[in-house]
Amino acid sequence: MAIDMHTGNNRRRIAVAGATGRVGAALLRGLAEDPVDVVALTRGHQTSLRTTTTDVAVVNFDDPSTLAKALRGADRFFLAHGTSDRQVSNEIALIDAAVAAGVTHIVKLSAMGPPTELHPFDWHMRIEAHLATCDIGYTVLRPGSFMTVLARAAAPVASGSWGGAAGDGRVNLVDVQDVADVARASLLETRFADSQRAYHLTGPAAVSMPEVADELSRLLGRAVAYQHRTVSEHRDALAASGVDGMVADLLLGLDRLFRESALAETTSTVFDLTGKGPVSVADWLRVNLTAFSGSSERG
Ligand SMILES: NC(=O)c1ccc[n+]([C@@H]2O[C@H](COP(=O)([O-])OP(=O)(O)OC[C@H]3O[C@@H](n4cnc5c(N)ncnc54)[C@H](OP(=O)(O)O)[C@@H]3O)[C@@H](O)[C@H]2O)c1
Repeated sequence: MAIDMHTGNNRRRIAVAGATGRVGAALLRGLAEDPVDVVALTRGHQTSLRTTTTDVAVVNFDDPSTLAKALRGADRFFLAHGTSDRQVSNEIALIDAAVAAGVTHIVKLSAMGPPTELHPFDWHMRIEAHLATCDIGYTVLRPGSFMTVLARAAAPVASGSWGGAAGDGRVNLVDVQDVADVARASLLETRFADSQRAYHLTGPAAVSMPEVADELSRLLGRAVAYQHRTVSEHRDALAASGVDGMVADLLLGLDRLFRESALAETTSTVFDLTGKGPVSVADWLRVNLTAFSGSSERG
C-alpha cells in the first residue's frame, strides 16, 4: 500500500477513539509498527496504553473541551464506540471535535446491515448521515457481525445447551483483526485521503449456525448441535442465562438478520485493502477452541 506517514515536516498523528475496545486495541497493535504518532482516547485513566509512540488522552463526553484537547494536532481519526445509548451523541461530538481540530480524514467503524430500527444499526445510519455533512475525507467501515459473536456460544457449547433463533440462515462473520487491518490501511493510505467512501467488510464465506456446529464437532471430536428455538423460546433462554434489556434485543435482532441471511454477502474488501485474505470461521474456531471444549472449566 502507498503509505503517507508525514504531514509537512512532521510525523502523521492519528487519534484513535475506542482504543481499549476490540477493534481499537487491535488497531493500536498494528499502528505500533508504523512510523506515526498515535493518541489513544479513553474515558478511563488507561496509562498502560501509553508507549513511546502512543499518547493517551482522557476524554469526558460531558466536557467537550476534553474532546477538543484530545484531537488537537491530529491529522487522521479512527472512530469506534462501544454499543451504548450514548453512541450517537458521543460519536457526533467526536466527529465535530475532529473537524474543528483540522482532522483531514475520519475512518468510522459502522456496521453492515439493512436499514432497520434495530440498535445499533439505526444509530450508525444517524452517525453516517452526520458524517456526510462534513467537508473532509472519510472512510466508513461497515463490517458484518464479528466472529467474537461466537464467543457467546462457548459456554453453552461446552455444556451442550447451545441454540438460538437463527434457523438455517447464513451469515458472513468477520474477524476483528481483519477489521482493524482495514482500518489501519485506510488511515495510512494516500490514495483515498480526500475521498468519501464506504466498505462492506466480510470473511471469506457465509456459514449457518448448524454448519458452525458441524465444524465444532469435527474440531472437538464430539457431537455439537445447534438447538433451533423460536424467538420467544430464545428470549426465555437468554433471560434465564442473565441476559436482558438492550443486549437481549440486540441478540434476537441479530438472529433475525442471520435467519433471513441478511448479512450473508461476501466481499473482497479485506483482501483488496490489506493484501491478505480474511480469517475464516474454521480458522477462528481452531484458534479459540479451548473456550468451547470446557476443558478450562474442568481443569
Ligand atoms: N460486535 C459486532 O459483531 C459488530 C459488528 C459490526 C459493527 N460493530 C460495531 O463496532 C463498534 C464497537 O467496536 P468494538 O467492538 O471494537 O468496541 P467495544 O470493544 O465494544 O468498545 C470500544 C470502546 O468504546 C469506548 N466507549 C466510549 N464511550 C462508551 C460508552 N458510553 N459505552 C461503551 N463503550 C464506550 C470504550 O472505551 P473506554 O472505556 O476506554 O472509554 C470501549 O472500550 C460498534 O459501533 C458496533 O456497532 C460491531
